Amino acid sequence: MSGPSTVLVTGGAGFIGSHACAELLDHGYELIVVDDYSNSTPQALARVERIAGRFAGAVYELDIRDRRSLSAVFDRHSVDAVVHFAAFKSVSASVQRPVEYYDANVGGTTALLRTMHEHGVHQLVYSSSCSVYGDAGTGPLDESTPARPTNPYAASKWTCEQILSDVCRRRPEYTVVCLRYFNPVGAHPSGLLGEDPCGVPDNLLPYVAQVAVGRHDRLRVFGTDYPTRDGTAIRDYIHVMDLVEAHRVALDHLADAPGMHVYNLGVGEGSSVLDVVTAFSAACGRRIPYEAAPRRPGDVAELVADARAVTRAWGWHPTRDLDAMCRDAWRFQRLNPQGYAGSARRTESER
Ligand code: UD1
Repeated sequence: MSGPSTVLVTGGAGFIGSHACAELLDHGYELIVVDDYSNSTPQALARVERIAGRFAGAVYELDIRDRRSLSAVFDRHSVDAVVHFAAFKSVSASVQRPVEYYDANVGGTTALLRTMHEHGVHQLVYSSSCSVYGDAGTGPLDESTPARPTNPYAASKWTCEQILSDVCRRRPEYTVVCLRYFNPVGAHPSGLLGEDPCGVPDNLLPYVAQVAVGRHDRLRVFGTDYPTRDGTAIRDYIHVMDLVEAHRVALDHLADAPGMHVYNLGVGEGSSVLDVVTAFSAACGRRIPYEAAPRRPGDVAELVADARAVTRAWGWHPTRDLDAMCRDAWRFQRLNPQGYAGSARRTESER
């Protein structure tokens, strides 16, 4: 570890946040976790402790927009840097409830920035999304691709990026690494942590995993008439362990240069829906039944990263392939057929 030693993680109980906590603890970081459990469960953090074999750090149940409570956390701990995951992430919910999405994602980020500033903390790793590119056409997209968000979720992420960039331009003490995720999937290799969406999953991998474990009859393949090699849509899937490794490396590089640094996180290769079905069938040892269904409104044919900038900057690149993503996702699903069920949790839709 050459970066900051005490890191505050917002949204640390969520899918990516919990894997990041496991990764950072494994590399000697001290953590402070804040989460409001609006779409997650404390169970995930208990499992992080099992994996780490040590105290995961202080955990606070709070909404980061509650600046008084957040400020008390910064008063109590000496925080060197922040990794900010806490946000709502459902594209469809954002279309139904745009104001809530802007309030949570943009309001959450500005509340965090004000509190950080008041406590002299100016180093941040920010969780952004490839959805900021919108429907940018085929071919790998690099970070200079113009942002054209097509839904409130993506627009909220892009708004936060613009705020962060403006702050960095005006205040030389800030360093922000903004990571644009393509499609994070997979699970911790222990089988203890994984993706456990509330209700019926919107996303492909958790749905396929639930078909494999018998919770649904078959996958519906949304669109078989795309101009792609097998007619199904292509995405750049990245293993969540690679993704969180990149956050750890980002922390190590925060001291390199002040200002805003934006990187795509993908593997730079596209997989179709049917590629995922084939890889998952091999991982779980049974055929995943599927049927063709109409395109999902708002979906695009292809979204693949040009992921070379992060390698140029840090010499880091993802190493896990689609087979490993499916194998690890399947292990979590097989060992936890009902996810983290049993623990009290509220869903976004119940808020
Ligand atoms: C979406 C978000 C992205 C977010 C990601 C994971 C957009 C533009 N992007 O990506 O910001 O990071 O979710 O939360 O919305 N599919 C099926 N059947 C299913 C489910 C999905 O065929 O039951 C197909 C979809 O049509 C798509 C592909 O699988 O072509 C991947 O879908 P999904 O996992 O939902 O991710 P994205 O929509 O790419």
